[in-house]
Amino acid sequence: MSEHKKEFEPVIVAFTCEHCAYAAADLAGMSKMHFPPNVRTIRLPCTGKVDMLYILRAFELGADGVFVAGCLKDQCHYVDGNYKAEARVMFLKKVLDALGFGGDRLEMYFMSSAMSDKFVEVAHEFTERIRRLGPNPFFKRRSEVLVK
Ligand code: FES
Repeated sequence: MSEHKKEFEPVIVAFTCEHCAYAAADLAGMSKMHFPPNVRTIRLPCTGKVDMLYILRAFELGADGVFVAGCLKDQCHYVDGNYKAEARVMFLKKVLDALGFGGDRLEMYFMSSAMSDKFVEVAHEFTERIRRLGPNPFFKRRSEVLVK
């Protein structure tokens, strides 16, 4: 007789720009579009505000995956904040790969405030990706901050 094993539910932190991805997530919620509750959104004035330490801190606190979602390319309200965020994410993905943590646990996306369907798609796809990758390998103790 096989023992019933509970499916791993990843904790995902999404750093979102209030002008686009955060608004898209809000619109998805208002439109009653379903997206996984695994995604915890953090609202920022622009993804250019995302410091690499924010991302590392999220992983340190137990996040299994992190994504950054900013305005469409060439539509950042602060000119190039989304490009700066993308460069940080791409650099950090390489560092996470080199550490054996897995750069696939981190991703960057671009969308407009009207693209609620894109936010929902990203939330589903990224949650599935992290579910396949499994729990954060460097985190042994689930934090009360991120996991209830
Ligand atoms: Fe949205 Fe810069 S204002 S990413």
